[in-house]
Amino acid sequence: MKSSEVRKKYLSFFASRGHVIIPSSPLVPENDPTTLFTSSGMQPLIPYLLGALHPAGKRLVNSQKSFRAQDIYEVGDNRHTTFFEMLGNWSLGDYFKKEQLPWIFEFLTKDLKLDPKKLYVTVFTGEAGSGSARTGQSLIPKDIESIQLWKEIFSRVGIDAKIGDHASSADARIYTYNARKNWWSRSGEPDKMPAGEPGGPDSEVFYDFGPSTSSGQVWHDSKFGEKCHPNCDCGRFMEIANSVFMQYQKQADGSLKELAQKNVDFGGGLERLVSVTNNSPDVFTSDLFTGAIATLEQMTHKHYAADETDTRSMRILADHIRGAVMMMADGVIPSNKAQGYILRRLIRRSLLYGRRLGITEDWKYIGELVAPFAKIYEDSYPDVLIKTQQIKLLLEEEGMRFGKTLEKGLSEIEKIETLDGHKAFYLYESFGFPWEMTEEIARDRGQNIKRTQFEEEFMKHKDASRTAAAGMFKGGLADHGEETTKLHTATHLLHEALRRVLGEHIAQKGSNITAERLRFDFSHPTKVSSEEIQKIEAMVNEKISENLPVFSTTMKKEEALASGARAFFSERYGITVTVYSVGEKGREFSREICGGPHVAFTGLLGRFTIVKEESLGAGIRRVYATVTKNESAAHPGKISSKA
Ligand code: ALA
Repeated sequence: MKSSEVRKKYLSFFASRGHVIIPSSPLVPENDPTTLFTSSGMQPLIPYLLGALHPAGKRLVNSQKSFRAQDIYEVGDNRHTTFFEMLGNWSLGDYFKKEQLPWIFEFLTKDLKLDPKKLYVTVFTGEAGSGSARTGQSLIPKDIESIQLWKEIFSRVGIDAKIGDHASSADARIYTYNARKNWWSRSGEPDKMPAGEPGGPDSEVFYDFGPSTSSGQVWHDSKFGEKCHPNCDCGRFMEIANSVFMQYQKQADGSLKELAQKNVDFGGGLERLVSVTNNSPDVFTSDLFTGAIATLEQMTHKHYAADETDTRSMRILADHIRGAVMMMADGVIPSNKAQGYILRRLIRRSLLYGRRLGITEDWKYIGELVAPFAKIYEDSYPDVLIKTQQIKLLLEEEGMRFGKTLEKGLSEIEKIETLDGHKAFYLYESFGFPWEMTEEIARDRGQNIKRTQFEEEFMKHKDASRTAAAGMFKGGLADHGEETTKLHTATHLLHEALRRVLGEHIAQKGSNITAERLRFDFSHPTKVSSEEIQKIEAMVNEKISENLPVFSTTMKKEEALASGARAFFSERYGITVTVYSVGEKGREFSREICGGPHVAFTGLLGRFTIVKEESLGAGIRRVYATVTKNESAAHPGKISSKA
């Protein structure tokens, strides 16, 4: 089947079961500074999964543009892509397992005409062994209801579905796994979920390509484990559908609490669904990619399937340029920060693989890959077609700019026998050759270069340039004086209080601090009422009166985000970050990625007052606030940039 057909069939299947079709949110989340990209269909719906009322009702369906930067190095095999479309349906506290599982099976077998015999399912086994899926003190039990439902569903099509554990059963149809495989939240299994994050057990459907490929090659190899099973990595099975029973929320004390409503969050990758309708294990053979791959074949005079290395290069190019095109259609432009930097990485990596396909001089060629994507998304994402010229120009410019660096860097690299982190920094510093690329080339050469060495050099260099630039301050601070520092800490308290009082949608849009007052801009659709202002002030003053410690920890940006720290795009991306926490360790009130400086204890702030609240238009509010000037500070203590 074609992608447009699968997308359309899915939307109408759920529309005819009472679901409202909602548009895809942009790839760059609108109200969430903690993540760079929308990476699943549920992400824009979090407030509604947590209980807010969605204007379109309790049954929703869509196809969501998604991007997973963490999969960038997986691309090149037959199934991973960075950009993908996630078909999703949701029950916001409406129907649950007994509707969802039969519907998904019906959609797959009737609408997509998949052979039921090729479908295998997995269910959460409960937390008997590893992991910590518990509510209070009790473990989350095995999902017996889903097992029972699947047994009935399969029996209706004449299949006696046996239940098995992946390690012991070879002939089961319903496999049970622990939280590592059958639990879904944005951060993975329960242990990894930050406080506030929703999640739950899930039930997945896998498509079986059979024990061997059409050319007779056997999929399974003992290096993947003794027995093959749906979650085996040998390639025989492909996950095509995931129904998450999103009914828990992680608490600050580490336990899981039942949400007031039980939700269904379904996700199925369009690319994969299209390929299984064609019984192809290679998503790059779907119509979403055939145009781009044909263009690459013409340019390189190589055949996609002829040589494994070339196949991989073509997949990487097709995937990365598609991701780049979709990002640019959503307004991202190449830069050295945040989304712009990921975009830049996609383009640069495409050029590296283009070079491996033999394209060495005309770096503008990547622009030619826009048209095939504009065509394939003509109806579903017309913006790509509308912005084709603009996207093409940006790609060409970026190609021209980086092509020379690539040549220079690669010729330097050839001269270096053993690559390490110090050499990677030299290449970066002298030629602008990106760290990731040196690392990837060293990996291809079997050399493992250490990021820490690169960072050491980077920090040395940064310290040197900081000294040179003394007098300039980042983070919206006018200076690092005592009053400004106090107001900076007050800004962190305010930010957290805004979120707790007004909701998780609050995102910092700007901040400016002088010795007299703080100014803070944030996203919020309506005026903040005087009662809300009072609540926010009271919360900040309560934290001040508790005289909480303020301390900093240095960690990797990914770790910081996973631990729930708030982050802003102004931060340098991909380098270690400093997280400032307010409150006792383990019971922090606020955690933010920030360069400091801050006071050592909140008691130093005195009284916090919001003096003004106004609109900046377009859903952005601005508040001005002050704290008591130093002479009346509640507690003595010293100002420090590291407590
Ligand atoms: N949110 C679930 C996923 O991304 C459906 O797999």
